Amino acid sequence: MNTIQDIEVASPQMEVIKSMEGFVEEQLPKLLLNVNESWQPSDFLPDITADNRIEQIMEFRKRAQCLSDDLLVILVGDMVTEEALPTYQTWLNRLNGVTDPTGASPNPWARWSRGWTAEENRHGDLLNKYLYLSGRVNMRSIETTIHHLINNGFDPKTENDPYLGFIYTSFQERATKISHRNVGVLAKKAGEDHLHKICGTIAGDEARHEKAYKLFMSKIFELDPARAVLAFAKMMKSKIVMPAVLMDDGKEKNLFKKFSLVAQKAGVYTASDYTEIIGTLVHEWNIAGLTGISGVSAKAQDYLCRLSERYQKLSERMNISGVEKFSWIYDREIVLAPIS
Ligand SMILES: [Fe+2]
Ligand SMILES: [Fe+2]
Repeated sequence: MNTIQDIEVASPQMEVIKSMEGFVEEQLPKLLLNVNESWQPSDFLPDITADNRIEQIMEFRKRAQCLSDDLLVILVGDMVTEEALPTYQTWLNRLNGVTDPTGASPNPWARWSRGWTAEENRHGDLLNKYLYLSGRVNMRSIETTIHHLINNGFDPKTENDPYLGFIYTSFQERATKISHRNVGVLAKKAGEDHLHKICGTIAGDEARHEKAYKLFMSKIFELDPARAVLAFAKMMKSKIVMPAVLMDDGKEKNLFKKFSLVAQKAGVYTASDYTEIIGTLVHEWNIAGLTGISGVSAKAQDYLCRLSERYQKLSERMNISGVEKFSWIYDREIVLAPIS
């Protein structure tokens, strides 16, 4: 009988990942921040050891007064998503060949996985503290949502396959970059420049992470185009599940759906963004220009090249309306008007 180890060694994907260790080692200094020079959440928060801490906190809260309920709900949803980081690190460590066998392994893939997690950890921290200090939201309800989300987990349908995994993360990092950036733009429009700066800083991390995952995948396309293109098509067919899809505040079972409707209505993350991301990845991995592939891989190539256009038509038909309530903001109502 095969052991798990035998199966992993036998996987061609795993062999490719192993062969990339030197490449990852070389890239790491460009892909991760120098920790001692990196930003930290406290750079953006009131100094509670300062003599004028009360004034600093009051000023902080005053600035957050101009945020609309819609924007608060989106910010909470984004923060909850970031706070389920334990789930994402566990998932990353399950991808064949990307594992961290000891927990402190010097292997370049393990160093990437820990470095990525450490950078991401600041996102949830900062947004959580921002929302707490703003005094605008029901923190207990939000904390219950995070508790449920980590408890419920998340299955992105990547089957521990590193190709599916890196396609997923390339997509997802771009999606979070778009979402944080757009929240920042809306915050600035509302008059909250400080939140604009915070969201822009987080979006900057997401952009760097997107670049890293796209780079890993570009290398895989170079080394194993036939399987890589199949994986890309498979991931797109099963659709990109958002990491916080199982969020639950203990009251509303459709919480994620409601949150995504608000985000879509505000233009923070929309069906058009989903379409744009597909188009970008197809373009950047030069799917149309892949050569030397045949059979099912050539069919997958053809499917991918037409995909963005198909989604474009679908997203044009979407319309949103209704009224939603969220425990995160003490059940105040949000009116979802149709997008004209
Ligand atoms: Fe993040
Ligand atoms: Fe991220």
